[in-house]
This record gives sequence, C-alpha cells and structure tokens, in this order.
Amino acid sequence: MNVLILGSGGREHAFAWKISQSPSLSSLYVAPGNAGTAQIATNIHLDLNDFNSVRKVVLERQVEMVIVGPEAPLVAGIQDYFLADNDLASIPVIGPSQLGATLEGSKRFAKEFMARHGIPTARYQSFTAKEVEEAKAFLDTLQPPYVLKADGLAAGKGVLILDDIEIARRELEAMLVDAKFGEASSTVVIEEFLDGIELSCFVLTDGRQFKILPFAKDYKRIGEGDTGLNTGGMGAISPVPFNDDVFRKKVIDRIVEPTINGLQKDVIPYQGFLFIGLIRVGEDPYVIEYNVRMGDPETEVVLPRIQSDLLTLLKALAEGTLDAQGLLIDPRYATTVMAVSGGYPGAYEKGKSIQGLEEVETGVVFHAGTRLEGRNIVTNGGRVLAATALGETLQEALQISYMNLGILQFEGMYYRKDIGFDL
Ligand code: AMP
Ligand code: GLY
Repeated sequence: MNVLILGSGGREHAFAWKISQSPSLSSLYVAPGNAGTAQIATNIHLDLNDFNSVRKVVLERQVEMVIVGPEAPLVAGIQDYFLADNDLASIPVIGPSQLGATLEGSKRFAKEFMARHGIPTARYQSFTAKEVEEAKAFLDTLQPPYVLKADGLAAGKGVLILDDIEIARRELEAMLVDAKFGEASSTVVIEEFLDGIELSCFVLTDGRQFKILPFAKDYKRIGEGDTGLNTGGMGAISPVPFNDDVFRKKVIDRIVEPTINGLQKDVIPYQGFLFIGLIRVGEDPYVIEYNVRMGDPETEVVLPRIQSDLLTLLKALAEGTLDAQGLLIDPRYATTVMAVSGGYPGAYEKGKSIQGLEEVETGVVFHAGTRLEGRNIVTNGGRVLAATALGETLQEALQISYMNLGILQFEGMYYRKDIGFDL
C-alpha cells in the first residue's frame, strides 16, 4: 500500500516511523515532512491547504491512503474534497469530515455537542460581538479565575485564564469587539474554571466502532514546574499513573461512548483520530476540549506503545471492520522530552546546525522542526527534536530521554528538565 502523511512535525515523524514498520507498506510519502521523515520516507514539497496539489501528488504517486496530521486541512474540508472527486473518492483519508472537524474548529459547536449529549464539561455560555453586555453580565456570575475562549482556531493562543474581573472584562471586549484573535474571536465561549489535573484520551473511530489508544499527559508550559508561556507541548508521558481502572471506566462510560453515540445521532461523518482533552476534578473526568487529530508531542509516546500494525488498523478503520482487529499495547512507560529553539515560544532563530543525532543508541529521536541543508540537519522551528524512550518505569524512560538530550546539541537548545515531575 502507498501511503501519504500530511504534516511536518514530530507527530508526523512518529506516524512515518510507525507506518514504515508495516509489512503492508509499499511506498511512504510525507508532505512536506522534515529531515527526520526524509530518512524513512520520500518528502514531497507542498502546501497542505492547497488540496489541488495534494490531489496531484495522490494521483501521480498512486497513493492509497492519506493520513492527515494537523487540524487545518481537516477544518478546511479535505475529507469532503476527496469524497466529492471521482478520482479520489475511493482513497481513504484518515481524518474526519469538515463537519466532524468542527468539534475542534469551533469551541461553541463542541460545547453545544457536549450539552446535547450529556457529556460532562465546564458550565458555559457563548456570546457574539452584539452580546458584549450580556457576556459581561455572565462573567459577573462566575468565580475567578475566568476562562475566555475564542471560538475558532487561534494557533493554540485563543484561551485566556484570568484572575482579575476587570482584566477579564477588558480582554472579553478585546476579543469580541476589537477582534483580538481575528475572526476566531468573533464568538467567545466563557466558561467555569475547573481545578484539576489534565490528561488526554485518544480514540480511533469510524463514528461507530472505536479503539481506545494509550492515554497520555503533556506538559504545555515553557518553564519548569509548569510556569511561563504556553507552548505546543514540551514533553509527554504515557501511560498516565493516575488514570486507574475506575477513572478510565468513567472516561469510557461518561465521555467516549456518549461522544461516539453523539456523532451517530447528529449524523456527523467521522473517520479518524479523536483526541479528548480531559481534566480530572476530584474523582471525575470532564472534557476540556476535543481535537480531531492526534496530539503533538503525545503521538511521540502513544504510537511507540502500540504494538499492533498501525496500517492494518487504519485499513480496517476505512473498511468499517475495526471491531475485528485486536490492539496490542506495550505495558511499558513511554516518555518524550522536546528540545526547542532558544526564545521559543517567542521569537527564535532557525538554521542552527544539529549535532549528536547519529550517536543516540537507545530510544528514538523524532524530528519536530528540522530540515536538510545540503547534508547537514538544521533547526527549522520552535520545537526541534522530541527525545522518546521506553522503560519499565517512568523514571527509567525519562532517564533515557534525558541521556539522549545530553548527546544532542544545537545553538540555543532548551528543554524542560522536569517532565513527569508532578507524578
Ligand atoms: P484549550 O485550548 O481548550 O485546550 O485550552 C487550553 C488550556 O487551558 C487547557 O489545556 C487547560 O489547561 C486550560 N483550560 C481550558 N479550559 C479550562 C477550564 N474550563 N478550566 C480550567 N482550565 C482550562
Ligand atoms: N499537545 C497538545 C496538542 O497537540 O494540541
């Protein structure tokens, strides 16, 4: 089978690494890919959101399955684009329809979906620019901290958590009236703050049948002890120690099953990964958000724990036979720690030469933001490398991840030394 993966980060390198182990794989393409994917697949330069160039590549290279890494092409309707084209309709796209992708593309849509299907989440209301006075009045009914969310995609920056009511009112106005996040904040969801510990649940589903993949926990803040600015993710671990059998059963009964049933009741076509961001409040799970793709860097710990052949699972997903497939999970711990460019998540420089990749012997180093410059591998993003390892214990896995980061080097390299600290 010829497979095309869309994306260029650590998540897509991890997909390429896992798929390249499949006995059913013929040719593997990654677009646009990075220096890591170039070692195990053919990179193809293209703009992910230009579906006509994706179409051209798929037909030229006789691609038989497309795996979509990031959310943008899904929210823009790549699944529907394939279905509407006679030459592409029979080629499975792993990723939901545009309507399904709205679960990530619109927080209001996601909240309404959860309310309709009785899925536990923070109490909320949503408002448009015309309702700014009502929005302020609703804010006054809540206790601090105040949670304001831009409805649309805002590159991970659209959520504000504020302690002060005056600042919250001002920010609310900036979002709704002054378009602080552009079109994305023309609607704002205001919700109750939930105090707890976060974890993520990953589901592979065709909207009817589903498989629960390993849970993971990521570390979003740039600084140690979970301080400083939010990032795309500085590290992740899997399994999550506090996700015991009782809690896991609550997640499945109260959240995963009602979500899948909700997709059916609402007739939302969905074929792909669903990433449910959860928070554990006391003993109970609540949904923070849905994402319609895998997480990054969570993928870098989830896929290494899947022992079953991923391509077989994805083929079964597309054929509607997922229930007939087994899913073997490695019981060991996986950890990943991200090495980022100096200055990230603010301004940073690219093009720094990376050393030490060849010296890493255990574990896997996934490339997140790298490119080839001649025969040299150089940095090409904020998040640069993800050092993944497996171990019998969390400590053992972390030790290998950190040992490898000690070998890797580029100018300005920074990583958090405390991934897993809270567990
Ligand atoms: P989101 O983009 O919805 O994932 O929100 C970004 C982050 O804000 C989440 O990962 C949480 O850490 C935090 N967050 C979002 N909503 C809430 C909430 N209702 N209560 C507490 N924290 C929240
Ligand atoms: N690591 C969080 C995300 O992928 O959205």
